[in-house]
Amino acid sequence: MSKTKKTVTVTDNRNGKSWEYPVMDGSIGPGVVDIRKFYADTGMFTYDPGFTSTGSCASGITYIDGDEGILRHRGYAIEDLAQHCTFLEVAYLLLRGELPNPKELKEFEGTITYHTMIHEQVTRFYQGFRRDAHPMAIICGVVGALSAFYHDSLDISDPHHRMISQHRMIAKMPTIAAWAYKYSIGQPFIYPKNELSYAENFLRMMFATPCEEYKISPTLAKAMDRILILHADHEQNASTSTVRLTGSSGANPFACVAAGIASLWGPAHGGANEAVLKMLAEIGTVKRIPECIKRAKSKDDPFRLMGFGHRVYKNYDPRAKIMAQTCKEVLDELGMKNEPLLQIAMELERIALEDDYFVQKKLYPNVDFYSGIIFRAMGIPVSMFTCIFALARTTGWISQWNEMIGDPDQKIGRPRQLFTGHAQRKFVPLKKR
Ligand code: CMC
Repeated sequence: MSKTKKTVTVTDNRNGKSWEYPVMDGSIGPGVVDIRKFYADTGMFTYDPGFTSTGSCASGITYIDGDEGILRHRGYAIEDLAQHCTFLEVAYLLLRGELPNPKELKEFEGTITYHTMIHEQVTRFYQGFRRDAHPMAIICGVVGALSAFYHDSLDISDPHHRMISQHRMIAKMPTIAAWAYKYSIGQPFIYPKNELSYAENFLRMMFATPCEEYKISPTLAKAMDRILILHADHEQNASTSTVRLTGSSGANPFACVAAGIASLWGPAHGGANEAVLKMLAEIGTVKRIPECIKRAKSKDDPFRLMGFGHRVYKNYDPRAKIMAQTCKEVLDELGMKNEPLLQIAMELERIALEDDYFVQKKLYPNVDFYSGIIFRAMGIPVSMFTCIFALARTTGWISQWNEMIGDPDQKIGRPRQLFTGHAQRKFVPLKKR
């Protein structure tokens, strides 16, 4: 990050006063106007609901160019990472800033493997939930509760404590998510197995039972690993900003990740993959697609085409392209090429990409459009889709949280407001109201 000689001048037309603000350049991408002194200078706040023009932090982790459809982690293209790396290699990259060499990767895999078990008492938290609880409600509660179990790594000013918490979070998420599923179907929890890879372990904890081992298909394990890579981090989205904002007060990392999970749950964010599948099921047949497109375009109808559009991508989401390819591989492996939902999805995508409304508004398929179909083909229930997103994104959240703690410019997040309520009112006693 460098201060340039460029400035932006703001003039108040009401009194002719002017102020100059420095422009800062990052290594790539749009510069930012440094308005930290704006309120002190002008007595005004800036107004930007939804933060569409606001940079909330400086970060060296993930770069997105939404117009070009580019996503890079620590400078590496998502396409290369998805094709050549495992999820744990990408996790290492996000956390530590560099790709690991073979020795570093082996050590990291070992560390993560030996943190996959959860304190046995945590199992009682699961028993407290109703069987029909949404697994996102369960993982949000259980992750928040971890701070009551791992006191030995909660000093956020100690880099070693932070590192242990990061390892614990990444290692335990597959166990926590798989157990939320097991609890909902009334099956016993399956404990992690150290000889398996991260993705294999998760699939086994989801699908094995004490009576029957789960035969792990290498294609499905690879697809799951790739899905985790594609969801690992995505710059300052709603859930990551939530994690940063929560952490800015000094809250512990488990509490911060629980806040991130809550934010991710919404259908405009991570909940969209679940919503895509529900939408495709509701459409039911290719014939009904035009009716659905009509509804999505109508100003009077709140219906939106789920899995389409993105705040940042005004081009094809690069993750969606890889996801579409993975989807075909998985359906081929499972002999499900003619899966009706895939036919509907492909036709919907074709029609939407040609439709003026979607073209003009630059609404392209996003990462969630195909991931739901893959999950379904793997036998993962719809309610678990967002949990898998949360599992993967935990790596991004915890990397961004760590970066924030180490940032000398970090302050507690405290946005201001444009007040539109009553300015002042005379109090009326209860009897007179
Ligand atoms: N279907 C129909 N119209 C849409 C859609 C859609 N999926 N998305 C945006 N639009 C329209 C919207 O009505 C608006 O029209 P107008 O300018 O006439 O008012 C215009 O496009 C711009 O939309 P916006 O809501 O102002 O854009 P945003 O950046 O605030 O919202 C979004 C981005 C992702 C929330 C939105 O596109 C959406 O709701 N998509 C469907 C949900 C979805 O797939 N979410 C997953 C996002 S990717 C995974 C993740 O990051 O979590």
